[in-house]
Amino acid sequence: MVRSVVRAARTLARDFGEVEQLQWSVKGPGDFVSAADRRAEQILVEDLRKARPDFSILTEESGLREGRFPEHRFIVDPLDGTSNYLHAMPHWAVSVALEQHGEITAACVYDPIRNELFAADKGNGAYLNDQRIRVSRTKDLDRALIGCGLPVRDWKGRKTFPPQYEKVADKVAGLRRMGVASLDLAYVACGRLDAYWEYGIKPWDYAAGLLLVREAGGKAGRMEGDDKIWDEGTIIGTNAALGDAFTETLGAA
Ligand code: IPD
Ligand code: CA
Repeated sequence: MVRSVVRAARTLARDFGEVEQLQWSVKGPGDFVSAADRRAEQILVEDLRKARPDFSILTEESGLREGRFPEHRFIVDPLDGTSNYLHAMPHWAVSVALEQHGEITAACVYDPIRNELFAADKGNGAYLNDQRIRVSRTKDLDRALIGCGLPVRDWKGRKTFPPQYEKVADKVAGLRRMGVASLDLAYVACGRLDAYWEYGIKPWDYAAGLLLVREAGGKAGRMEGDDKIWDEGTIIGTNAALGDAFTETLGAA
């Protein structure tokens, strides 16, 4: 998983140089970015297939490819943070998780711009470039820096977000909307953010991030219940100390 994620991200990083140029050209970067995205997905599927030919693969661009052992599946976002990438903002990532018998057992999120590889293996902790990471110890909401999603136009969460925002914004030290769900959760895992929530994101956006937060000692799941973890809902990742207070704040929205 690590090898495939790094290989795909390096290709995207090379193309990113081109996007910066296209940003200023008449042609614009739109088509180029979707082609780069598809190329990255191809690399990931090729590598993961080679390593585990019988596993299923769920990707953002192509949906589910059923394998002989569908109870093992990779969940892949070849380019998380497409809008950032498209606008030449250097904050995006490649994310892959492995789900086995309904549990996420391994996760990788790689940010090639900062050369930061977040990885976790169920029961063996979470790591940033081989250093063990842990969630923050912030226990008071009024000192907490919180990540979130920001729905625009007809995105999911248009109705859900405003009341949640009202409740949270009143109580916390700061809010950030960085546009890369997998990295938002990775940042909770390494303590850069104290918590994160977003309504309506997709399995490939958060599968890897959930395990990173859990293995870093935090809490991560779906507010409406983990039994339906892939159904539409509010995904929350928090440090251990804030967990209940934060979820209650959102829940009361
Ligand atoms: C998006 C990002 C973003 C989140 C969106 C996702 P994409 O993924 O993770 O942070 O707010 O809901 O769709 O489209 O850039 O892969
Ligand atoms: Ca995504």
